Amino acid sequence: MPVTIEPTRMGEPWLLTPGPLSTSYAVKAAMLTDYGSWDAGFRAMTADMRAQLVAMLGQGSEDYTCVPMQGSGSYCVEAMLGTFLPRDGKALVLANGAYGQRAARQLAQMGRAFTLIDKGDYLPPRGAEVAAQLAADPAITHVVAVHCETSSGILNPLTEIAKATEAAGRRLLIDSMSAFGAVPVLPSEIAFDAVVSSANKCIEGVPGFGFVLARRDVLEATKGNAHSLSLDIHAQWAEMERSGQWRFTPPTHAVAAFLQALREHADEGGVDARGARYAANRNRLVGGMRQQGFETLLADEWLSPIITTFFCPADPAFTFPDFYDRMKARGFILYPGKLTVVDSFRIGTIGRFDTTVIDQVLTAARQCLRDMGVTSAAPPAAALAERAKFLQEVSR
Ligand SMILES: Cc1ncc(COP(=O)(O)O)c(C=O)c1O
Repeated sequence: MPVTIEPTRMGEPWLLTPGPLSTSYAVKAAMLTDYGSWDAGFRAMTADMRAQLVAMLGQGSEDYTCVPMQGSGSYCVEAMLGTFLPRDGKALVLANGAYGQRAARQLAQMGRAFTLIDKGDYLPPRGAEVAAQLAADPAITHVVAVHCETSSGILNPLTEIAKATEAAGRRLLIDSMSAFGAVPVLPSEIAFDAVVSSANKCIEGVPGFGFVLARRDVLEATKGNAHSLSLDIHAQWAEMERSGQWRFTPPTHAVAAFLQALREHADEGGVDARGARYAANRNRLVGGMRQQGFETLLADEWLSPIITTFFCPADPAFTFPDFYDRMKARGFILYPGKLTVVDSFRIGTIGRFDTTVIDQVLTAARQCLRDMGVTSAAPPAAALAERAKFLQEVSR
């Protein structure tokens, strides 16, 4: 069912960011009730949430269980890595941006062995590279892949990575933080031990916790792996199975909001419908920005429906901080870029809005450029040279 988008009731700007993101009023209103963490009512809410998240995996979900974990996405990634990678295991981390790099830093910090395929700011790690690295290094037990690398917005080729990993008899751990709920991660098509995401991304809840969806048989065997008392997915799971409770203080209000967000996700038509709305947002945004002269970092087939990187215009009248402030004054919060080689900015297309809001974004962008005295949104030659590198690499 198409969602009805209403203007933000508190007059707050739209968040064109990849989480926290704009949520419905009903999601916010769900936080007006206080819940006791031990109470049967809240335990039932937790059980309901876990069951709905497992079901969201789709075909093949019956082998999986859900373990929510307090904290932001990074806490949950760290908990997943520490729990699923045995202390004597070794990870192959596939990095093409900040979040792959962060996973590697987390492994380094917890003293686990790992090796890195580092593709720089945004080039995708390919199945053939993974296969070659796994063949060359028999000590590798696990591959760690980022689904949508939110720092550039690229949708990484998860299927070919999963195939290479499975063919080599290794295990796959997925960070689908910014994609889960809008881009399928089907166990019937992709072999993986665990996938992690968080409440304030594509399911459109508020920040406060994340969750790991893990193969039950694999999770059962992870007891004692974790490097941390708190960030232990096995211990959290064991307690939830035993008592229905979170081990330590749960984010009760965020869970209540998330249950409302899950209701809205189901009403909209689930993962496919959510993904379709976000893709429509992205298509309208990218088409409209290109009409104004802006260029995207990535070729169309690599653009995620989540967030898109645009090059900053070469025109000296353009600075991102100025553009940001002017867009904010018109009711839109943008996101700075994360590329290290050329200036860029990002616009997210996830959250409680549709193409009618995107049309307003495009009008605002045009007006801001005009007010700044920017006559052309075309990027500098260096940006186009960077994109040529991308096109060359992905066409190989
Ligand atoms: C792919 C990915 N991984 C990990 C994280 C880390 O999440 P957090 O910032 O909530 O700690 C993010 C955040 O956006 C992300 O997009």
